[in-house]
Amino acid sequence: MKSDLYCLLGNPVEHSKSPWIHTRFAELTHQALHYERRLVPLDGFAAAVGAFRAAGGRGCNITVPFKFEAAPLATGLSERAALAQACNVLRFEGDSVLADNTDGIGLARDITVNAGVDLAGRDILLLGAGGAAAGVLGPLIACGPRRIVVANRTQAKAAQLIGRHASWAEQHGVSLEAPDAGGARGTFDAVLNATASSLAGAPVPVRGSVLKPGALACDFMYGPGADGFLRWAREHGGVPRDGLGMLVEQAAEAFALWRGVRPPSAQVLTELRALM
Ligand code: ATR
Repeated sequence: MKSDLYCLLGNPVEHSKSPWIHTRFAELTHQALHYERRLVPLDGFAAAVGAFRAAGGRGCNITVPFKFEAAPLATGLSERAALAQACNVLRFEGDSVLADNTDGIGLARDITVNAGVDLAGRDILLLGAGGAAAGVLGPLIACGPRRIVVANRTQAKAAQLIGRHASWAEQHGVSLEAPDAGGARGTFDAVLNATASSLAGAPVPVRGSVLKPGALACDFMYGPGADGFLRWAREHGGVPRDGLGMLVEQAAEAFALWRGVRPPSAQVLTELRALM
């Protein structure tokens, strides 16, 4: 049987787990597909998408630093990608190019299904206001928490991000605030780290007392990059969680968008954790 072609476009891509994850999804759902990595020159994103479509590609994931470059190439943009102003997945069908962002729904699913933490009515602190935070805020609001505080080193970026989500938050009855990072007041049921502070080797940009006892403390990173935040969470009575589940779940949403079949993501997450 002929395999349909998919890929990851990014720079760098060599350490990505996406090929392994999608190949495993395909095995478990009996889908004939081939998924590869494509290293894209920093000024060559549109050309790389064009070349991949010309080679028969059916869809791709997009990672750093190209998530902001996909929307202009799309003929259709999902509502959540429009809110995020960033895309991590494209689907090609004839002349149409659908752009979506599955990072937020992946995070929400990892927290609510895999970690078993219900976010409805809860208080959430989202650290950061860059691309990673923008990708998840809309779907977090859709989980129906009581309050989301977006705290960022550069407060103006957090203010801009919540401004863009104001009407979405109002529709869901969610209170949105944007103090600066040190100024996050109160305690939270979930603290979600979407900053690059761990990678930079910098301290967690908020005091430990923001964690309610037993609060979920989730870093979007996995592997050594998440260690500092996870240690901080343990030291302050939180329940640490890395970003591996979010990675697998955003991939599962992309796979479902491409193939119309939902893969067994919890099983694949367990397998991937065992491998690492
Ligand atoms: P990404 O796409 O991974 O989100 P980004 O858009 O560059 O990358 O955003 C990085 C985020 O991490 C930003 O919120 C950034 O804060 P600023 O907006 O003030 O730059 C945050 N960040 C990076 N290094 C940090 C540090 N040492 N302490 C606190 N926040 C940091």
